[in-house]
Amino acid sequence: MSPSKRILSGVQPSGDLHLGNYLGAIKNFVSLQNEFECFFCVVDLHAITVWQDPKLLAGKSREVIASFIASGIDPKKNVLFCQSHVPQHTQLSWIFSCVARMGWLNRMTQFKDKAGKDKENASVGLFSYPTLMAADILIYLASHVPVGEDQKQHLELTRDIAKKFNNDFKTNLFPLPEPLIFGEATRVMSLRDGSKKMSKSDISDYSRIMLGESSDQIVKKIKKAKTDAFPLPDNVEEAKKRPEAYNLISIFAALTDKKNKEIISNYAGKEFSVFKNDLAEITVEKISPISLEINKLKKDTKYLDEIIEGGKIRATEVADSVLSKVYEIIGFQKP
Ligand code: ADP
Ligand code: TRP
Repeated sequence: MSPSKRILSGVQPSGDLHLGNYLGAIKNFVSLQNEFECFFCVVDLHAITVWQDPKLLAGKSREVIASFIASGIDPKKNVLFCQSHVPQHTQLSWIFSCVARMGWLNRMTQFKDKAGKDKENASVGLFSYPTLMAADILIYLASHVPVGEDQKQHLELTRDIAKKFNNDFKTNLFPLPEPLIFGEATRVMSLRDGSKKMSKSDISDYSRIMLGESSDQIVKKIKKAKTDAFPLPDNVEEAKKRPEAYNLISIFAALTDKKNKEIISNYAGKEFSVFKNDLAEITVEKISPISLEINKLKKDTKYLDEIIEGGKIRATEVADSVLSKVYEIIGFQKP
């Protein structure tokens, strides 16, 4: 029987974490940690689907762990670890690449977005990435996966893989994991362009707010955020037609644990300058303590490495026992 309340989620160490990662994923991890058994993973194997500087990669993985802890994830209660330390993820991902169909992967929009026009030159890993993500989740028999909106399609694929494996091998080993996509900022957009997702790879530094950012920079970026020429909208339908305004409203709501509707009614008809002042203030209030803590923790590499080592041991225990069952179900020769 698989556990009914187990979470697995992952964050790539491909650059500094931004407000989208925080509001779409990490803030939700924090609120779920008391109700679920949680495995939070730095997905370094996913990060190398595009080039990563070998001199920086280990440090970036540590920084993600520091950001988890600084955001309020309790390292004693939850399993925090690096994906590359638990080889069972990749072992299961090979099996899943034999279960998943080419047609399924061909439909993945993240590959299309990330590969862009030069598909022939994208790595094979970037294409098969969702089978590794399915393995990350199912090697722990996770029942729930908190993620941002952009990962919904990968979660559907994970469920399809679990279903096909169970069907093909006449087993009920794998659960069909539920995505947990909640809060008012499940898809935070760029501060420069309301039609683009806030992302680590955007060339404009002003498109995103980093978790390690100074208060001055946060204020500057919010003041410079793109808006339109009108005062703030007075209802949700109107707000949704104005992507830049809606994005800032959603950020405000998510940071203050309120509904968009409430923020809209507080600021209806007001000028953006007034709203931005308050948004800057609230963002600094919420992000600065995290930023300070990240910068403090980053220096304590010994402490972070101990947590990562402990996480590896606990994660491996679970992953190893599930992989053994999978090998048996498939019918491999016993070693
Ligand atoms: P990215 O390179 O897109 O930041 P990550 O793997 O680091 O990707 O993302 C980690 C988590 O943050 C995922 O759950 C993802 O859905 C979420 N996330 C990433 N960008 C955003 C965003 N702009 N808005 C909301 N959630 C996001
Ligand atoms: N694919 C996710 C992203 O790009 C990261 C990820 C990898 C992940 N493995 C995962 C998220 C497992 C949740 C569960 O954001």
